Amino acid sequence: MDLTQGDLLSEASEVTPGRQNLYNRTAMAQFTFQVNGKRQRLDTDPERPLLEVLREDLQLTGTKYGCGEGQCRACTVLLDGKPVTSCLTPIRAAAGKAITTIEGLAAQDRLHRVQQAFLDAGAMQCGYCVPGMILTTCALLKNNPHPNDAQIIAALNGNLCRCCGYPSIIAAVRLAAKEDSDASAQ
Ligand code: FES
Ligand code: FES
Repeated sequence: MDLTQGDLLSEASEVTPGRQNLYNRTAMAQFTFQVNGKRQRLDTDPERPLLEVLREDLQLTGTKYGCGEGQCRACTVLLDGKPVTSCLTPIRAAAGKAITTIEGLAAQDRLHRVQQAFLDAGAMQCGYCVPGMILTTCALLKNNPHPNDAQIIAALNGNLCRCCGYPSIIAAVRLAAKEDSDASAQ
């Protein structure tokens, strides 16, 4: 049967744009790890990208696939509090560790202050880069609650925004840092 371009597109749309065919499936192994405070246990290929496990096995689709090559950081999650590119992180590297995704930030119906700051500053257009930006900002503010602009730019330097919303994003990080200072002062 000849496949038309439409057939190919509809097949492609049924899977997360991952790297299913670009790495070899090896022996399965069992891994336990935490995602957003919840323990997970999975039998899978040790080399599967964390991004694929999050999106396809755990349905945590807030973590985005951009380049798949470590170049855009749309797929950033926190691994034991440190930002990592989940497209390049094999699931074996997450064994026994705690992962935070964008879904894990809000407390019930209250947004995390960094999420709220991005909203208040209008720091999103299409929004595709925003989960990675927010998680990278969380890691920055944890280590440096009062970053100057140069430190903000250095921390977010690898996170690409195709909508070029960088001024608003930097304003959002400033706002999140200020709100932290205001809350501490009260
Ligand atoms: S999708 Fe992971 S760095 Fe681009
Ligand atoms: S808001 Fe569109 S990629 Fe950043």
